[in-house]
Amino acid sequence: MKILEITGGQTLSGTIRISGAKNSAVALIPAAILSDEDVTICNVPAITDTEALCDILVYLGVKIKRASESIVITSNQMENKKITATYSKKLRASYYFMGALLGKFGKVTMSLPGGCSIGARPINLHLKGFEALGATVTINKNCYTIEAEELKGANIYLDFPSVGATINIMLAAVRAKGKTVIDNAAKEPEIVNVATLLNSMGAKIRGAGTSSIEITGVSYLGKCFHEVIPDRIEAGTYVILGAACGENLKIDNIIPDHIEALTSKLEEMGVYLDIGADYIIVSHTAPYHPIHVKTQTYPGFPTDLQQPLTVLLTQCSGQSKIEETIYENRFMHIPYLNQMGADIRIKNQSATIIGPSKLQAADVVATDLRAGAALVIAGLIAEGKTKVTNVEHILRGYENIVEKLTSVGAKVEIREI
Ligand code: UD1
Repeated sequence: MKILEITGGQTLSGTIRISGAKNSAVALIPAAILSDEDVTICNVPAITDTEALCDILVYLGVKIKRASESIVITSNQMENKKITATYSKKLRASYYFMGALLGKFGKVTMSLPGGCSIGARPINLHLKGFEALGATVTINKNCYTIEAEELKGANIYLDFPSVGATINIMLAAVRAKGKTVIDNAAKEPEIVNVATLLNSMGAKIRGAGTSSIEITGVSYLGKCFHEVIPDRIEAGTYVILGAACGENLKIDNIIPDHIEALTSKLEEMGVYLDIGADYIIVSHTAPYHPIHVKTQTYPGFPTDLQQPLTVLLTQCSGQSKIEETIYENRFMHIPYLNQMGADIRIKNQSATIIGPSKLQAADVVATDLRAGAALVIAGLIAEGKTKVTNVEHILRGYENIVEKLTSVGAKVEIREI
């Protein structure tokens, strides 16, 4: 088991370079198998989620070549084997192999996906989409078999603009016969990134980034070179950290537009941000005003930044409020923040944060990826040495977190116990 030890109270200065987006990379890697030629993806973050997907590729007989931040995926001799729980459980995004294998072979068998326990997280919308394309879905002992003699384009309306369902349906539809329209589609930048990869491979997708995506099926997908966009959630996490304890902390290699929902809220709090074309410089400029935040689908405030932001809200003078509308179980970091000296009250899907609070170090548990990120920020501003266990969750999504934090002056160590 890994443990993160954080000695709080340092002022962080320097530059943190943001890595490729986890939520793009985890879809781009399965998407690449739709091609029978070499697909090169660069700026792939070295995190355990991308490693787990590469393990699945190798298991399926896909050839991969990794060199620093790029990966070349060659799938012309792959085998369509059942993806067992050993592989699928390691991460949520293993479910993108459903759409990709269905699109390529007309059949996929895989066990339930894993991922953070932040809510029920059903995949009914993915399955409904596959069925609309003509597939049948059979579930036997937590194992899904999805197959179709021929996938045919269809009009699909998503009851909720799910990121996963939108991407999975795109993956299945790119090689289907005829035209598919996904309405009420998710609009996240990661969806545009995946559609761009597929189009570079020869797919015909229009409208990605809007709520209506049109996919005209093609019979063949070829080689391409593609870049993962910067991780807006990693960027947002470090911008929040800078507002908590930075002094001219530069968050570099980002697309500031992708985190506008966060930056406008920070500015409302009184955080001064120097926003450039591909960077943000941020300092601790308290006192901060309390704010109200409601998580929403893109371009609304991202649920993934709600947990890190909660920590900063403990430093505002007055009563802030966070309403979580996407997941039912995304306040698991709060008991730990309260243990560290915060005053946060949860009622239904809302958290009321009463600040400012002086945080004290404690032994805490990263219950999920973003809860872990929140506790790291809390540890960095707390007095004393905080120990975070279940660090594996954090390493699923934050590339070189210890090195990045240390390089800007944080005292952080990772130890195996
Ligand atoms: C993705 C992100 C995750 C982020 C989330 C919301 C990846 C790998 N993960 O997760 O970091 O927190 O978007 O921005 O990209 N839902 C259903 N049925 C479905 C699918 C979803 O009811 O078939 C519900 C979910 O339970 C949840 C909501 O829709 O309440 C949003 O889920 P979705 O957008 O699908 O999130 P993920 O793709 O799992």
